[in-house]
Amino acid sequence: MAKVVSVNGDRFVELITERRIKAKVKQLARRISRDCRGTVPVFIGILNGSVIFFSDLIRELTIDCEIDFLKLSSYGDAKISTGNVRLLKELNCQVEGRDIIVVEDIVDTGLSIDYIRHLIEPQNPRSLRVVTLLYKKDAVRPGTKVDYTGFSIPSDFVIGYGLDYTQRKRNLKSVYRLQAKPVRTGTRM
Ligand code: IMP
Repeated sequence: MAKVVSVNGDRFVELITERRIKAKVKQLARRISRDCRGTVPVFIGILNGSVIFFSDLIRELTIDCEIDFLKLSSYGDAKISTGNVRLLKELNCQVEGRDIIVVEDIVDTGLSIDYIRHLIEPQNPRSLRVVTLLYKKDAVRPGTKVDYTGFSIPSDFVIGYGLDYTQRKRNLKSVYRLQAKPVRTGTRM
């Protein structure tokens, strides 16, 4: 039976198990380590959602790295994007001449990733790549570039493994998707 969790009266059903996530993180780390052999990239985690993926990913790397964090305004407590991205914490590292790898938990519309590229590119990194664990293939804007993708998922709202709903459930070990509420067709007297 699929695992289920409830938050504020909404039901979420397990979509990606802990085992599949672990295997995927290892696979992504292997690819990135191979592509970046001989360099010391700066991994930039996007707070708060990417912290769990970020810390698992960098510990699976076989290359050395530096780390830094950016914080952007998120969904707030809603289940859909506000369409506005604001910078809440800037980078502290030197970007010029460095190989930068941005680590996202999820790319939904792609607005945040496009914003981050526009923020970092003018600082002249040697290279700029994006890795995301989850990718909402039907929601993302055309032209949004992602270099490494874990799982392509439907556009449903998801929680767990760093992703929250009203700041809760980030500490779930697997990813859960919101289950649509059944449509009520009649009133029982
Ligand atoms: P985008 O700018 O629309 O691509 O959204 C990116 C950010 O929105 C992510 O880093 C998450 O913080 C948040 N987000 C997008 N989809 C979800 C979701 O299904 N659950 C929780 N947060 C989400």
